[in-house]
Amino acid sequence: MDSPATRMIRIFDTTLRDGEQSPGASMNLAEKLKIAQMLAELQVDVIEAGFPIASPGDFEAVREVAAQVKGPVICGLARCNDADIDRAWEALERAEKSRIHVFLATSAIHREFKLKMGQDEILERAVAGVRRAAEYCADVEFSPEDAARTEIDFLCRVVEATIRAGATTVNIPDTVGYATPSHMGRVIHSLKERVPNIDQAVISVHCHNDLGLAVANSLAAVENGAGQIECTINGIGERAGNCSLEEIVMAMRTRADVYRTDTQIISQRLVPASRLVSAVTGLQVQRNKAIVGRNAFAHEAGIHQDGMLKEASTYEIMRPQDVGFSHTDLVLGKHSGRAALADRASTLGYVLNDEQLNQVFADFKDLADKKKEIYDSDVAAIIEQQIRFHAQRWTLDSYCMEIDSDSAPQVKLTLKHGDQLQTTEMASGDGPVDAVFLAIEKLTGYAVRCTDFSVHSVSVGHDAQGEVNVEVEYQGNRFHGRGISTDSVEASAIAFLEAIHRIDTLQEAMKTR
Ligand code: KIV
Ligand code: ZN
Repeated sequence: MDSPATRMIRIFDTTLRDGEQSPGASMNLAEKLKIAQMLAELQVDVIEAGFPIASPGDFEAVREVAAQVKGPVICGLARCNDADIDRAWEALERAEKSRIHVFLATSAIHREFKLKMGQDEILERAVAGVRRAAEYCADVEFSPEDAARTEIDFLCRVVEATIRAGATTVNIPDTVGYATPSHMGRVIHSLKERVPNIDQAVISVHCHNDLGLAVANSLAAVENGAGQIECTINGIGERAGNCSLEEIVMAMRTRADVYRTDTQIISQRLVPASRLVSAVTGLQVQRNKAIVGRNAFAHEAGIHQDGMLKEASTYEIMRPQDVGFSHTDLVLGKHSGRAALADRASTLGYVLNDEQLNQVFADFKDLADKKKEIYDSDVAAIIEQQIRFHAQRWTLDSYCMEIDSDSAPQVKLTLKHGDQLQTTEMASGDGPVDAVFLAIEKLTGYAVRCTDFSVHSVSVGHDAQGEVNVEVEYQGNRFHGRGISTDSVEASAIAFLEAIHRIDTLQEAMKTR
């Protein structure tokens, strides 16, 4: 007997919208564009680029992604009211393919406490919102927010009415991450059974990860007929995050025997995508994270290593190179040329234009002067640093430090401000990093509270590059920065300056409003 055909599931990426709602993960326009471009290369079906009415920055990001990124459908979020929907369309109209995503909460808790509306009023609003969106755009998605906690009879009514009003996708969010796999499966099954016009729309799911079940719940939805999954790179998002794109994609691909589904995702780009999102948001990927964590393919136990050497499939269900880890950690050095670097970059899944390659090659040569062996993780770190593009007003020029174990370190620091050099007096701090941060605060005029600081090595050896991640608080908002250098004090300064740059950008944007 023939096996059933593979069903293609649409991947709706919301890293730039729901993902950006992770505390401290805000991104600037250049970073959002870079991520959107990367999502297009990954071949996601839909990019939710933002919530245009939420802020002028969100509007601009959706508008620019719509204008510049080709391939996927570009989507903007709107509540069920005219102003939101009109603004969403204004941001989306230049897209090659666009979608308006309207949402309204439907659960009893939200109806009673948040919206103070009855079922009929909710139904009317939802239908009116979908109709208005459909006047602009043929592709309309409707989300009954908190659907997983909505009474199933009412949910069926809402879904039927919004499809009749023109919704081409109905998304079932588990907004608070409350569902379990059997629960989510039952909801989708009921919609399939009970909504008469359900075949006229794609059923989507949007699962949050509060119980660690977002991927399992999404898979259960797929098993029951969902045709679209909403997810984010590295699973970033509100609270415990959203369904992780890399996990759901690889679960369906690796267990095609069970799910009989696939996606059009280029899986070899998953690791570079994960690294880029981590670098831009400052949200580090835990080492043991499935698919993209540093240890995801590391075999420590002797018995496993022995099995792996005899036959990789004894302990490996996926090949590291299939998700974008390089097969070998080839070492480059100061005699390696541009072609070798370009080859390594492309094996690691990065697509660089000539200008980027030139810049990365220059940084590579600098690093090769300081460090004998350059590993894949070093190359990836240089590339990420480069492609994160910051036209920063303040950059580090140099510093000199006096340090001994009996007294506070003293630093004299020089920053470049545009073309000009500005140098501090000697400044002292509790340690070398504190001294450098205080000196930067003095020169830039921003006094911040450091809320997080971490350093880890990018590769191996005493001369390994250090990666510093820093988070600071300024006027109630959190900003992050990341810096890489073989000198961890210098890496700290670079990271701190990047966080200052984000504050600066926000201050400038607020002035022009
Ligand atoms: O979690 C949620 O309910 C959402 C909706 C806007 C889809 O993010
Ligand atoms: Zn959400």
